[in-house]
Amino acid sequence: MAHKLPATLVAAFAVLLALAAPLVVIAGDPDMLQDICVADYHSLKGPLRLNGFPCKRAENVTAHDFSSGLLAKPGNTSNAVGSAVTAANVEMVAGLNTLGVSMARIDFAPWGVNPPHTHPRATEIIFVLKGSLHVGFITTANVLFARTLRRGEIFVFPRGLVHFQRNNGRAPAAVVSAFNSQLPGTQAVAATLFGASPPVPDDVLARAFQIDAGLVEAIRAKFPAPM
Ligand SMILES: *[C@@H]1O[C@H](CO)[C@@H](O)[C@H](O)[C@H]1NC(C)=O
Ligand SMILES: *[C@@H]1O[C@H](CO)[C@@H](O)[C@H](O)[C@H]1NC(C)=O
Repeated sequence: MAHKLPATLVAAFAVLLALAAPLVVIAGDPDMLQDICVADYHSLKGPLRLNGFPCKRAENVTAHDFSSGLLAKPGNTSNAVGSAVTAANVEMVAGLNTLGVSMARIDFAPWGVNPPHTHPRATEIIFVLKGSLHVGFITTANVLFARTLRRGEIFVFPRGLVHFQRNNGRAPAAVVSAFNSQLPGTQAVAATLFGASPPVPDDVLARAFQIDAGLVEAIRAKFPAPM
């Protein structure tokens, strides 16, 4: 029983679809509703909980809220993986609140690795400050896109995909990262699975990695759980 829809109904439907389209493509932090909303960290001690931080009173905002020297110095890479991430996100730079961007620097000891991890809320773009790095990300189809980068080159890690970087040489290396989120979030694959508190059950990890429970325990010992 085929019958035609009235033309006005079809037109109205088309308009609705057109209006809904921009909502579908939003893929970063929410848009801001005012010029600035500098994070008021003090309010965290109060009862208010919300998505992001409340705004400081206008009279309390200064230029310092929009500035930071955090990324001026290399991080300490004397650790098991040989890399250090120094973040300049909304938790450190109050003026970033509601602006949808942040940065980090990553320093690498010789052959140091920034282990496979994801940023659930942001795409990342890196710029190589010094050294040479092998970097890559893996799609949900398990395809690795990897390249060797030199000083001055960039690479993009699409939002949410597992990625890594490794220093290719005997000299220290460093990159600057930019994110389209004020707080990209980081889940390092190994630390997330083996350092969770309370722990992920042994049998889940044993099955997932096709290893025995003894090996699960041995790996877990290297990833101290958070306090
Ligand atoms: C904001 O400034 C007022 C004075 O103008 C001061 O009393 C208050 O403690 C400040 N609040 C914060 C969170 O700095
Ligand atoms: C770097 O970290 C190592 C290990 O925690 C520590 O022994 C060393 O003193 C640190 N170096 C600096 C310059 O802070």
